[in-house]
Amino acid sequence: MTLDIGAARDDGDVESFARLADEVFFGGRSSFRMRYPAAFSSGNRENLMVARDGARVVAGVASYRARLRLAPTLVLETAAIGAVCTAPDYRGSGVSTQLLEMTRARAIEEGVHLLLISGTGPLYQRLGGREVGALDELHARLDELPDRSDPYNRHEQPEAALVDACWAAYERQTVRFERARDEFAVLLAGHLRPFENETAALLTSPHGDGYAVVRTGMEGSERVGFLVEHAGDVDRWLPIAAAEARQQGCDRFFTRLPTRPGSWQGRVEETPMTGVIALADAAAAAGLIIDHLNQQAGAPRWGIDARGDDVVLHADGRVVLEGDTGDLLPFLWGGPGREPAPWRLPSFRSDGLNFL
Ligand SMILES: CC(C)(COP(=O)(O)OP(=O)(O)OC[C@H]1O[C@@H](n2cnc3c(N)ncnc32)[C@H](O)[C@@H]1OP(=O)(O)O)[C@@H](O)C(=O)NCCC(=O)NCCS
Repeated sequence: MTLDIGAARDDGDVESFARLADEVFFGGRSSFRMRYPAAFSSGNRENLMVARDGARVVAGVASYRARLRLAPTLVLETAAIGAVCTAPDYRGSGVSTQLLEMTRARAIEEGVHLLLISGTGPLYQRLGGREVGALDELHARLDELPDRSDPYNRHEQPEAALVDACWAAYERQTVRFERARDEFAVLLAGHLRPFENETAALLTSPHGDGYAVVRTGMEGSERVGFLVEHAGDVDRWLPIAAAEARQQGCDRFFTRLPTRPGSWQGRVEETPMTGVIALADAAAAAGLIIDHLNQQAGAPRWGIDARGDDVVLHADGRVVLEGDTGDLLPFLWGGPGREPAPWRLPSFRSDGLNFL
């Protein structure tokens, strides 16, 4: 069997890939194009790698470029990878591996520093990926949580001025993916499109100090609420999101966050689903980070020696990290217990495909 492999050529390929992903991941009951409108758009065609048997896409890997701001002056180029799938009859012959390698090669060519993916397994390990930790998944039955939240406004179809205000709140976050206003609006509109039996709402506060997007849907016989994303103080927006879920008649509530907020009173589970994998260009990424840390310190405290794949990172003459380029990933991920990086990567959410 010879497959024709390359970037999606036209909208027909995009649609055929989306249909395949719908079938593989959702048994045809949900839609990638609806959930990830920006990734599965005509304009992102060159980042949709597909294998075709005749006119039909039988395997695909989607990626979506995003600039990740880790600090006001530190921005890394990333490619979020998702919708990795092969039609059942075509599995086991290396097609997915091939598509992933093409995706990485193109990303490196285009100056991408990091490939982001939520997923585990040999496919991604072969790309040089490392698991760098899990997100905390917060779960609660709503009757276990205190019924207390600040007042909020609820919008199903926000007007342009409100989208602008939310965008401004999003932009104020230190660690974030850079989004043009239009891109932000497209992603938000995607979040606010409920499927049958679901609700989706944008919640804002009278003070204009952030927002939350909450969806609800059925899991078995229970209605479950989910905080899709928020900007602003998590300790303020989590109770608001839970209040909205309660309002919509939910029994349970959950969300995923990079750290457990102090105020949370429900259960916390680590989800193994998420990893930042594969440095596309380790030396370039590390160089930017080191420059940033030195600027912050006001002195050349940090240094890096990279030879081929071997990396030594030092601070004040002390070796902080010694290994190969993959070992830089936990450093990049940062956060408590994963010092010394002074940031944590944002949770994997709306911002591309990286939360599949
Ligand atoms: C995972 C998947 C994309 C692999 O596609 P593929 O084209 O068969 O991949 P390759 O032939 O390049 O093989 C890569 C790995 O996939 C795994 N694989 C192969 N056939 C498989 C099958 N029928 N079912 C599940 N996994 C399979 C193997 O573990 C293989 O790794 P190995 O060679 O180290 O054993 C495909 O099985 C699939 O679509 N699964 C459902 C969707 C999914 O889980 N996607 C990953 C989301 S994170």
